[in-house]
Amino acid sequence: MTLLITGGASGIGAATARLAAARGHKIAINYRSRETPARKVVAEIEATGGQAVALAADITREADIVGLFDAAEKVLGPVTHLVNSAGIGTAPTRVQDYDATVLANLFATNTIGLMLCCREAVRRMSTARGGPGGHRGGVIVNVSSMAGTIGGRPGASAYAASKAAVDSFTMGLAKDVAQEGIRAVSLRPGMVETEMTEKTLADNAVRSAIESTIAMGRVGRAEEIANAIVWLLSAEASFISGVTLDASGGGFVFGKR
Ligand SMILES: NC(=O)c1ccc[n+]([C@@H]2O[C@H](COP(=O)([O-])OP(=O)(O)OC[C@H]3O[C@@H](n4cnc5c(N)ncnc54)[C@H](OP(=O)(O)O)[C@@H]3O)[C@@H](O)[C@H]2O)c1
Repeated sequence: MTLLITGGASGIGAATARLAAARGHKIAINYRSRETPARKVVAEIEATGGQAVALAADITREADIVGLFDAAEKVLGPVTHLVNSAGIGTAPTRVQDYDATVLANLFATNTIGLMLCCREAVRRMSTARGGPGGHRGGVIVNVSSMAGTIGGRPGASAYAASKAAVDSFTMGLAKDVAQEGIRAVSLRPGMVETEMTEKTLADNAVRSAIESTIAMGRVGRAEEIANAIVWLLSAEASFISGVTLDASGGGFVFGKR
């Protein structure tokens, strides 16, 4: 089992890498700029007897994506599992202040880059394609966001839209490949403490305000999301495809209960 994780050097991607390695996956950790953190995760996995490699690729570039899959296969063998965790947010922005370049980069990363990673995975996993490269089927988990279910928190409408698109795409993808040995699932985290959110959550007042909107009254940990992802990757989830799973502490609550 070879698992390729985009954005695997930090946060949810790194937690998934560690857990999946412990469950017997060989891990290809993709990073864009975080080479040192990526190598650190590789070293941690190797120290516990696992096999991993860190691979640079910017998923907004199609050629990088193709090269990433080629490189992962060359080092670790056919990619059988894919977790698309790479993603970015934007500074809080009202619609009236949208900038076309920011929007294009957001969608190029969160949506189109993810879709092209899925394309590469399908080309390499699908049992319909035959040939010597593996093609034994596989599993894809796309990390979207609860933001997509509510239009985002204030100023995050574009981010929310980029993630809602992932949920819809994943449903269509799953139907496309359901008879080709591939499962595809969208995993929607709620607010999770990672490098992406650490600045926001460092402000205690903001953190409390956010936590008051989560049913469990707390943000999540990357490991809690990784547990759900690794289960979805496993054979225990063999009849689950084309759905979204929320890992969100019970979801949003607004107002007093
Ligand atoms: N944390 C939350 O509350 C939360 C909630 C819902 C959904 N999510 C989603 O969960 C996923 C993981 O986020 P996280 O919380 O773990 O944050 P994170 O630590 O910031 O992880 C995001 C990763 O994406 C990588 N990345 C960004 N642009 C890239 C590109 N063009 N090419 C390749 N890699 C790229 C980053 O690596 P580089 O810096 O090296 O580019 C980074 O390692 C994201 O898709 C995010 O939208 C997070």
